[in-house]
Amino acid sequence: MNFVDIIIKKRDGGKLTHEEITFFVQGVTDGSLPDYQISSLLMAILLKGMDAEETAHLTMEMANSGGMFDLSAVEGVKVDKHSTGGVADTTTLILAPLVASVGVPVVKMSGRGLGFSGGTIDKLESIPGFRVDVSEEEALRYGRESGIVLMSQTDDLTPADKKLYALRDVTGTVDSIPLIAASIMSKKIAAGADGIVLDVKCGSGAFMKDMESAEKLATTMAAMGRHVGRKVTAVISGMDQPLGMYIGNSLEVIEAIEVLKGNVEGDLLEVSLTLGANMLLLAGRVETEEEGKALLRENIRNGKGLAKFKELLEQQGGDTGIIENYELLPVSAAKLEVKAKEAGFITRMDTAVIGRASQETGAGRMFKGQPLDFSAGIVMKKRLGDAVATDETLAIVYSESEEKCRSAAAFLQKAIMITKEQAEELPPLIWKIIRQED
Ligand code: URA
Repeated sequence: MNFVDIIIKKRDGGKLTHEEITFFVQGVTDGSLPDYQISSLLMAILLKGMDAEETAHLTMEMANSGGMFDLSAVEGVKVDKHSTGGVADTTTLILAPLVASVGVPVVKMSGRGLGFSGGTIDKLESIPGFRVDVSEEEALRYGRESGIVLMSQTDDLTPADKKLYALRDVTGTVDSIPLIAASIMSKKIAAGADGIVLDVKCGSGAFMKDMESAEKLATTMAAMGRHVGRKVTAVISGMDQPLGMYIGNSLEVIEAIEVLKGNVEGDLLEVSLTLGANMLLLAGRVETEEEGKALLRENIRNGKGLAKFKELLEQQGGDTGIIENYELLPVSAAKLEVKAKEAGFITRMDTAVIGRASQETGAGRMFKGQPLDFSAGIVMKKRLGDAVATDETLAIVYSESEEKCRSAAAFLQKAIMITKEQAEELPPLIWKIIRQED
């Protein structure tokens, strides 16, 4: 097979055969295809798209490019969750212990931050002692014993995605629906879950900026679930402002603990409950989303969710003292209040720019492999629609130096729009839920 013919076929809008896709993914995995040819095909896919069948083949070839995690030794229906990426999106740290605390096992592999979006593994690593490198054997044992594991991806999981992702990141080929769908679904399929709840973020702080593309991505992934025999629910949720109020690694751990303690209501809790309840639905643990949410809320009230979080920390070497004493987490040397320059209403937040501000504090990476400042980040004080007075605090920036605080503050000032008039309506939090039978 000649790879140039495959590139030309896609460039001209043709449909790739299963054999051609297999040849492509094998060549990516074994290193026989050069990066420039891979990148050309990626760009052709971005420009010309792929239909459902091609996307399903690509997904399965990528899923099969490395080892497959066999979770059958853990009893029960295993349900995973994946977010397409956002800002202050700390739902995993909240819903994983809650879902596990009602008896549905969560064996979850997570990733690091990507661009302006945060990553669960980085957040977990901000907890002193917490081990994210868990072997498959340990994961199965933890899954059986405690019903919860949060770990980084094992090295041999979907090597084709690792290679393709790195190339997409530097060739302008990230925002392609079939490529994103295949990247996410291949990892979830290889990670062994029976059911998958996808949190497809939509808005200024998401890769999908509008409802049309978010819905297309969500339906593509749900359809793929049907093709490959996994139950998939896709929740399209808003990312037109940071989901929680805390952005940064140890800061998001603190907010998650506060939610589990029952001290915080609001959007972060609401999305966590929606995703968690849909995990319970897929696992057959409840009949309705409302029943699921009530069960999860009850385990916040009675402390079982927080107890499961503590069990997770003990199991993976994390300092459980952080639950009562946040000062045991890394603390920043410098802080700066960002103040409103004028009075009015907050009508828009460019959430990707807020994520960019958080990178500026040291909480996110600007280049591959950059070490993070776990203590750094931003605490937001306002949400969309809030009224503000001149000089009122909009956010507090934390970093290792005043200079970094100032530079993050400049991004925040740009990102938060204040107008004299109140916005007519605010964007919804949960846009739509797509279930496989829909
Ligand atoms: N998250 C992923 O895992 N892959 C993508 O392509 C985009 C977001």
